[in-house]
Amino acid sequence: MAGPGRLAVRALSGCGWVRGSDPAVLSRLRDEAVVRPGFLSQAEEDTLTRELEPQLRRRRYEYDHWDAAIHGFRETEKSRWSDASQAILQRVQAAAFGPDQTLLSVHVLDLEPRGYIKPHVDSVKFCGSTIAGLSLLSPSVMKLVHTQEPEQWLELLLEPGSLYILRGSARYDFSHEILRDEESFFGERRVPRGRRISVICRSLPEGMGPGRPGEPPLAC
Ligand code: OGA
Ligand code: MN
Repeated sequence: MAGPGRLAVRALSGCGWVRGSDPAVLSRLRDEAVVRPGFLSQAEEDTLTRELEPQLRRRRYEYDHWDAAIHGFRETEKSRWSDASQAILQRVQAAAFGPDQTLLSVHVLDLEPRGYIKPHVDSVKFCGSTIAGLSLLSPSVMKLVHTQEPEQWLELLLEPGSLYILRGSARYDFSHEILRDEESFFGERRVPRGRRISVICRSLPEGMGPGRPGEPPLAC
């Protein structure tokens, strides 16, 4: 019973992991804001978490500045990984990046249960056209809002073990944020926030090949 009305409702609400303000935005960003639930097996998720935990535990959660984009977080940059984690990251690279894209070192962000990320666009000076993130431990909702036309938005449901990819217009023309616990809803569905670790891969700005001077900062 898939009449036109039914199809319109489906297009409006999006799929199980992506919701949008309207069917046009959903269709325009279909290949630019992508969620792949279950990208990691439980064993792979455990491998990454176990490897990151000792490095993260040495740091304190930061709350600091009133104007900071991220609250209740600790972070690290990691370039050396075990073989098992390396294999996972290679799968991310193959799934999200083109062969001509060079990657920055991996950024690991640990948000405590009250932690959140305010709307921002990653700096174009330090990050290229593609951002891909693995989510570990807790589900969360990432919201994308068009910087010029805020009535255009998307919500991405990021379950543990999922991969999200932002590229092109979704990366440049929309801000992204991770909702704080009180606001953590995917449509009507409440998504309670616990501690969440993300493993974020970013491409280098186009034309800035490896070995070029200018060290990118830890977070873009
Ligand atoms: C960032 C960011 C998203 C995430 O650090 O710039 O947007 O998945 N992180 O943690
Ligand atoms: Mn960001």
